Amino acid sequence: MATVGILGDGAIGRLIAKRLADQDIDVCLKGRPPHPKAQDADLWLVCTKSHQAELALAALAPRPELPLVLLCNGLGPHERLAQRLSNPLFLGTTTYGAKRQGEQVLMTGRGHCGYGQVSGSLQALPQVHWALHRALPPARYFPQVMEPLLQKLAINAVINPLTARDQVPNGALLASQYRQEIIALIAEMTPVLQHEGLACTAQELLDNILAVAQATAANTSSMLADRQAGRKTEVDAINGYLCEKAQHHQLPAPLHRLLWQQIRELTT
Ligand SMILES: NC(=O)c1ccc[n+]([C@@H]2O[C@H](COP(=O)([O-])OP(=O)(O)OC[C@H]3O[C@@H](n4cnc5c(N)ncnc54)[C@H](OP(=O)(O)O)[C@@H]3O)[C@@H](O)[C@H]2O)c1
Repeated sequence: MATVGILGDGAIGRLIAKRLADQDIDVCLKGRPPHPKAQDADLWLVCTKSHQAELALAALAPRPELPLVLLCNGLGPHERLAQRLSNPLFLGTTTYGAKRQGEQVLMTGRGHCGYGQVSGSLQALPQVHWALHRALPPARYFPQVMEPLLQKLAINAVINPLTARDQVPNGALLASQYRQEIIALIAEMTPVLQHEGLACTAQELLDNILAVAQATAANTSSMLADRQAGRKTEVDAINGYLCEKAQHHQLPAPLHRLLWQQIRELTT
């Protein structure tokens, strides 16, 4: 049986490590370097924050045949890594929730996982599916990997920065005072997402975002949690990524750009 490497020993990394170990699957959990050289793995699940992934992988220097699965929120690092590394590269997203409590990890929500391949040989697919399906079941393979990732990005690009800016729980966004701003943010990002290949309408995005705000009404978004803890947020890989893509397609994105700047100013 394969040894599953987990890079990033935070909340989601530890949750995955625990779930796999509970099934008697060998796990190699690595935090910040220096790393002990003794252990190695047959594939790596990258569980750092998006802005930590490239440095973490550079320090790990995985053998080029080993599959890598980026499980960070947000997008952008995968494009640079696909150019730099020849490893089979996968992207995944999960609705499981995890929280660190000292050295322990608490599962705050059971969910699912969607993943697909960005680059490299497809031979690694069964092994990646096996690991993800054991760690974050059910795992679903998407031949068009950007579909679930862009769907998640759309939700994060509205809920995360608004809740972080105003320091409110997700459910606060259901109030009428936010509706116009949410609709304007969606109107701006819909053509960008469509140009990136996501078949979506503004109404579908609005429905999804409101459904997530409702289902997670009492939750503190990860961006707000990062702001409150004085940590760097993932806004570059969320609204920043959207703005870069808007620029690439010569589409306007002033509202997302403003939010991107505001969150950066509030958290640096
Ligand atoms: N937690 C969740 O419920 C959840 C759910 C879905 C998706 N996600 C996504 O999963 C990613 C991780 O989230 P998280 O909540 O687990 O964050 P986290 O608790 O901050 O975990 C990230 C871990 O990576 C470590 N790290 C940083 N640089 C590293 C390096 N160079 N090498 C190895 N490890 C390094 C961090 O160490 P330090 O603490 O020293 O910085 C930290 O332990 C994020 O993109 C998040 O959005 C999280």
